[in-house]
Amino acid sequence: MALVTDPSLAAKAIPLVVIHTNNYDAYLAHADARTRTWLSATEFRARPHTYALVPAADGGIAQVLVGVGDVGDVYALSHLPLVLPAGEYTVAMPRDSALGDFAAALSWGLGSYQFSRYRKPARAPANLLVTANDALMRAEKVLTATTLIRDLVNTPTEDMGPQHLADVARGLAAEFGATFHEWVGDDLLKHNFPAIHAVGRASHRPPRLIELTWGDEKHPRVALVGKGVCFDTGGLDIKGAEGMRNMKKDMGGGAHALGLARLIMALKLPVRLHMLVSAVENAIAGNAYRPGEVVATRKGLNIEIGNTDAEGRVVLSDALTLACESAPDIVIDFATLTGAARVALGPELPALFTNRDEWAGRLIDASHEQQDPLWRMPLWQNYNEMIKSGIADIVNTGGPQAGSVTAALFLEHFVPKEQAWIHLDLFAWNPKAKPGRPEGGEAQTLRAVLAMLEKQYGK
Ligand code: BES
Ligand code: ZN
Ligand code: ZN
Repeated sequence: MALVTDPSLAAKAIPLVVIHTNNYDAYLAHADARTRTWLSATEFRARPHTYALVPAADGGIAQVLVGVGDVGDVYALSHLPLVLPAGEYTVAMPRDSALGDFAAALSWGLGSYQFSRYRKPARAPANLLVTANDALMRAEKVLTATTLIRDLVNTPTEDMGPQHLADVARGLAAEFGATFHEWVGDDLLKHNFPAIHAVGRASHRPPRLIELTWGDEKHPRVALVGKGVCFDTGGLDIKGAEGMRNMKKDMGGGAHALGLARLIMALKLPVRLHMLVSAVENAIAGNAYRPGEVVATRKGLNIEIGNTDAEGRVVLSDALTLACESAPDIVIDFATLTGAARVALGPELPALFTNRDEWAGRLIDASHEQQDPLWRMPLWQNYNEMIKSGIADIVNTGGPQAGSVTAALFLEHFVPKEQAWIHLDLFAWNPKAKPGRPEGGEAQTLRAVLAMLEKQYGK
């Protein structure tokens, strides 16, 4: 992740001088005449996400001025690693010391990411020389989890099917001493996960429910649930070409559950972790589930299938039921659940739904503090009438309005009233590159949820 700690590199590392836009005049007042002339000639203004190479007398690079807007911006340095000349850089005794070690390392790491599975990157990122301390260790763990999520989402379906998600979970279990379990194919029927099986049975790769369990049984229980639809064709209610193009990312919720589980274990958060991912492909074949069908669930509620493209809530129903069976302190699900959430909030803002106001407050506070945005949406109970079925207990489509709300209300039917629950409907994707947010798969709400859990359960 382009962070280096070897102190012997300090002598040759090029200083990065971080300057908040509003303090630029003060900086200029103290700069030597030659530097001032250079900066004015090159029209540097210390605007956020800009930089200026300042030449030394011998023609080398004396230092790099870095414009920064907001204090402590987690993307402050993200524009640099892939544009600065190769080599080592170090944050100089900051004129604007508000950029702490954590934000410096995190912003550098987020901006160094390249998806390199299928081609060699054009260049390696430049290195940031950092001090080995707690802030760095934390930043590295957050970066590893973020990279995991980005890589999983970016990997096309042929290389990221249900079994690959299971392999990732199995690998995490081995690394952190967790227990891995999975129910595959007909096992799902035998152990009463009929809804996951119904959605996933048409794929040549069998559906799975993936489970990780970790931590001291005496610690508070935290359950993470992820939608792992490795490809969403829409099923028999097939998507159009444009809507289907990016559906390799429909396992983004599962990737988030895996990434957050990794972080919780790496940071040894004192919780009893229970992670579940419903891993399926929503495929088309002679045995595909059909519109109008009624699908049984683990909970005992029968779901009428109004549309086979609303498959996420169907596969989540069984996983949520299992998660709630051990009555955890909190259940958190992650899912690329609805197009409607994107219509409402766009790609950057995941939708938060929860049946507990106090948890909403905790997560929103953590979201602000971590610069990891999300927005609360309502579980508007009156709209339950939109998901009433004529022939079964509930239907998986809610009509043209409030689509993310009716999807969340659907999930709520599988969560007991006394169970605290958070549902995050997210995009897991950057449609357009921004500093620290490359186009493609993205971790969203990861830092916010982690911070919330640490605050609630930390040592
Ligand atoms: N995976 C999609 C939702 C989605 C689409 C998320 C695009 C992010 C980007 C989901 O399974 C789906 O297709 N939902 C339908 C539900 C509808 C048929 C009730 C939707 O939102 O259109
Ligand atoms: Zn769908
Ligand atoms: Zn889907």
